[in-house]
Amino acid sequence: MEIGETPGVPGWPGMSGQLVFGGDYSPEQWDESVWRDDVALMQDAAVNLVNLGIFTWSLVEPTQGHYEFGVLDTVIDLLHAGGIKVDLATPTASPPAWLVHRYPQMLPVTVDGQRLGLGARESFCPSSPEYRAAAASIASVLGQRYGSHPALAMWHVHNEYGAHVGPCYCEGSGAAFRRWLRDRYDSLAALNDAWGTTFWGQAYSAWDQIEPPRRAPMPSNPAQQLDFLRFSSDEYLACYQGERDVLRAITPSIPITTNFMATACKHIDYWRWAAEVDVVANDHYLDAEDPRSEVGLAMAADLSRSLAGGKPWLLMEHSTSAVNWQPRNVAKIPGQLRRNSLGHVARGADGVMFFQWRASRFGAEKFHSAMVPHAGTSSRTWREVCELGSDLRELAPIGGSTVRAAVAVVWDWESWWALEFEFRPSVDVSYRDRMRAFYEALWDQGVTVDFVRAGGALDSYAAVFVPSLYLLSQDAADGLRRYVENGGTILVSFFSGIVDEFDRVHAGGFPGALRDILGVTIEEFHPLRAAENVELSDGSTADVWSERIHAVDAEIRVSFATGPDATEPAITRNASGDGHAWYVGTRPDGRALSALVREVLADAGVVVDDDRPSSVEIVKRSSSDDTYVFAINHDADNEATVRVTGIDLITGEQHSEKIVLPASGVAVVREQPAP
Ligand code: GLA
Repeated sequence: MEIGETPGVPGWPGMSGQLVFGGDYSPEQWDESVWRDDVALMQDAAVNLVNLGIFTWSLVEPTQGHYEFGVLDTVIDLLHAGGIKVDLATPTASPPAWLVHRYPQMLPVTVDGQRLGLGARESFCPSSPEYRAAAASIASVLGQRYGSHPALAMWHVHNEYGAHVGPCYCEGSGAAFRRWLRDRYDSLAALNDAWGTTFWGQAYSAWDQIEPPRRAPMPSNPAQQLDFLRFSSDEYLACYQGERDVLRAITPSIPITTNFMATACKHIDYWRWAAEVDVVANDHYLDAEDPRSEVGLAMAADLSRSLAGGKPWLLMEHSTSAVNWQPRNVAKIPGQLRRNSLGHVARGADGVMFFQWRASRFGAEKFHSAMVPHAGTSSRTWREVCELGSDLRELAPIGGSTVRAAVAVVWDWESWWALEFEFRPSVDVSYRDRMRAFYEALWDQGVTVDFVRAGGALDSYAAVFVPSLYLLSQDAADGLRRYVENGGTILVSFFSGIVDEFDRVHAGGFPGALRDILGVTIEEFHPLRAAENVELSDGSTADVWSERIHAVDAEIRVSFATGPDATEPAITRNASGDGHAWYVGTRPDGRALSALVREVLADAGVVVDDDRPSSVEIVKRSSSDDTYVFAINHDADNEATVRVTGIDLITGEQHSEKIVLPASGVAVVREQPAP
């Protein structure tokens, strides 16, 4: 059976026994003579899959209903002859000028009411019926034309839904929003109640009075904003589903995917999307300003695997070196490309692909790195690309193996949205900052984590971390309570369990939905001024947040030593049933958070590997027969020694007891019991 494939269900692209390697391929930017060179070079680099046609709508359908297949026909045949499979895109992320001119109302509108222009990409509103019909039509045309081509391995629907535009606030979106609201609430009375429209006299007496939450004199109703973001994510999903269903009907056995931006995209609720794709595919780019970008990479990879329900997933895009869209586009250092790519594989990716195959000579992205850079094949990038292709061939046996995590972190898009609306206690509370801080503390202990949605299954985890989960339904809170009562351990951080799914404060005082399980009440929030710190009784410092906690049932572990809550509890632990619920009511500095996370892990019985050098990332993938240890040295200057016994899958070397990783080195070892 092929990697990750379940009989009868379209799954991993049909590429028996190989890990995927390749990138976005745009032959339309080059003369035909280059296409042949490309295929030869792809063979040299061991490329086995390319994403083709992503932005080719105006090429394939230059005027409405008139099709030109010449380029795609030739290129697909050339790739096929070269033994390279095709992940064929529907080109709907960049509607052609003729379509936009015919239906100018399909251009998206910002929250300020500004209609965005044509001439880049993503020039569409996801609720536009004209756009959706045209997108389904071009998907159908491509499905008919190439559905039975032997090179076709997978469909790549669209490209990064919602990447740059997000919610559209046009009139058409308003009408679609009202339809969505009618389905959700049935009656205006229910909507008025859920949105709390008695506040500021916002009650609606007819459906057509409701508009998208455009820029208003003051913050729009937060429940309305929440519903609008839910609606917007659903509208993009409906666009995907529309194209997918057309393709599914034509090619029932070809897997279909679209590329996510897991940790990077705020306004798409990927938990609602994940079940709709046959293969979870993710795009990830390093933040050049992040001194520990490997941690952000690992977080994106763990979230991708979690969205895939633990099954193999595909790294659809990353970069060989610099991107072109950050303020300072820092190039990767020698060995970083390999570290990055194999870092994703370590966390469950069964393939790595890049944006892009060949660097563009024109257009907005010509300074973006590529597998074939402007410098050509006499370049470090090209050599590193070829080495990676060869490594991935050797790593084929790991295909289909999975990562097991003892610990989970709750990640929730709706809570992220609501946490960051206007008029919160402090603008310094950021969802991504809290997720990253907790994730980094776990990374530093060498603990691999899964992410779970609020209300998701928790039973298989020894500990669950809940960073600033501001919005929490009572049902999801009950799930956490049952988990603790049955012996689980949780750590919840400040500003969690405050509001329900309509952004209404849970009754009875903070932290409403979690009061009982945490054994605390919070009398008042005391956010700190910018750059203000407080000291804690254990000698550590914290910032951003303080609050007046009353430990009703919980034991007090650490108190505030200074600040508005001096001498009052800061960190508590509550025994509940067979488990424990910890709470931290401030933002501890990095060292203190690491120490707290370590204490909670110990409380949960999670064993931490203290022998591991701190620069080395170790992740295990397992199949029914084997365990594969990935050891990645993020120290670019010093070698590191790791304890492991087994065969190095890439070099074939037998290691007994230990392996010495060179600076920036990566090893993948099929583990054998130590002699
Ligand atoms: C995204 C897009 C690509 C390209 C890259 C550049 O991931 O999907 O088309 O623009 O960014 O980093």
